[in-house]
Amino acid sequence: MRHAHGGDLRRLAMAAGVTPERLLDFSASINPLGLSPAVEAAITEALPAVIHYPDPEAAALREALASYHGLSPEQVLPANGSTELIYLLTRALAPGRSLILHPAFSEYEAALELAGARLEHELLDEDHGFVPELPRLLPRLAGQDLVVLANPNNPAGSLIPKPTLLALAEAAHEAGATLVVDEAFIDFVEEASLKKELAHFPRLVLLRSLTKCFALPGLRVGYALASAELVARLSRWKGPWSVNALAGAAGIAALADREYQERFRLLVPRWREEFQGGLQRFGQLRVFPAVANYLLARLLDPGLSAPVLKARLLRERIAIRDCTSFRGLGPAFIRLAVRRPEEQALLLEALERCL
Ligand SMILES: Cc1ncc(COP(=O)(O)O)c(C=O)c1O
Repeated sequence: MRHAHGGDLRRLAMAAGVTPERLLDFSASINPLGLSPAVEAAITEALPAVIHYPDPEAAALREALASYHGLSPEQVLPANGSTELIYLLTRALAPGRSLILHPAFSEYEAALELAGARLEHELLDEDHGFVPELPRLLPRLAGQDLVVLANPNNPAGSLIPKPTLLALAEAAHEAGATLVVDEAFIDFVEEASLKKELAHFPRLVLLRSLTKCFALPGLRVGYALASAELVARLSRWKGPWSVNALAGAAGIAALADREYQERFRLLVPRWREEFQGGLQRFGQLRVFPAVANYLLARLLDPGLSAPVLKARLLRERIAIRDCTSFRGLGPAFIRLAVRRPEEQALLLEALERCL
C-alpha cells in the first residue's frame, strides 16, 4: 500500500471519534522525550527570520552535520526529511534493477516504481531475527543498480552486525550497485553507523533523519551522507530552500544538545526493556529484540489479527501500527513505539482488556 505510515493522527483520531490530542499514539516511533528545550528556544529565536528566504543549500546546517559526524561538508546533503532524498535519489540515479530488503519503509517502493525501476524483493526472515542472510542475499546482488536496506530495520528493530553489513557493502560495490542504507533510527546506536566506511565505498549512501531521535517529524529535517562525488550528483536534482529557516535552526540546536542525546541514549533502552517485559508477560505476543524506540510483535492467537486489535485499542483512544501493509509481515504483526513508563502502563492495561 502506498503511503501507509504510522502517526497519521488525523485519520486515527477520526476512526477513534476523538480529537488528535486525546489519542495516545504508539503508532509513530518518535523519541518519547519529546522536543528538547534547547531546540524549542532555537525555533523561537529563529522565528523573525521567516520573512527572509532561508539559505538555499542550508549551509550552516550542513557544516554542523559535517562536524557532528566527523565528515566534510561536501559529504553531506541536508533535505526536507529523508523522504525527500528517497524520491530525489531514485530520480537522480534512475536505477534499472533495484532490490529492496523487506520489511521496509513504504516510500522506497513507491519512489522506485515512479522512477520506472525493475523491482526485486528480498524478505528478511523472522526466524533469522530479520537480519540479512548472506548466502542467500549475496548472489542476488549481481546485476543490481540499486540496493536498499535499513539499519536498524523498521519495523523489526533489528540491527545488522557490522561484518554482515560490510560484506554487503563490498558485494554491492563489486556489482557496481549503489547501496542505500537507511539509518533513520541509528542515532540510538550511533556506533553502528557506516559513516566511517564512506571513504571506502564511493557508491554508498546513508540516509539519516532528525525526525525520530530528535522528535522533529513536523519540521522535516533529513540528510544524506555519501562521497563528495555522489553528493554533488544528487545536489543537482534538489530544488533550493527545502530546509526552511526554522528547521535549519532546530537542526543545529539539536546536534549541539549533548545533554538531550545522553538522556535518550540512557532512557530509551531502559524504557524499551521494561516495555518488552510487560508485553511478554501476556504470553500472547512474540516480541522481537530491538535496538531503537519501537518493538515489533507477532500476535500468537491465530484468531486475532492486527486490524482487529488496532480497532479495539482505538476504542480505548490508543493508536498502534498494524503491520499488514509491510511486505513480508502481514496481519499477525503490530509495531509499538517505546513511550514513557506511565504511558506504557496505560497501553498494557488496555491490552489486558483487548487481547
Ligand atoms: C526507515 C525510515 N526511513 C525514513 C523515514 C522517513 O523519515 P523522514 O521524516 O526523515 O522523512 C521513516 C519514517 O517513518 C522511516 O521509518
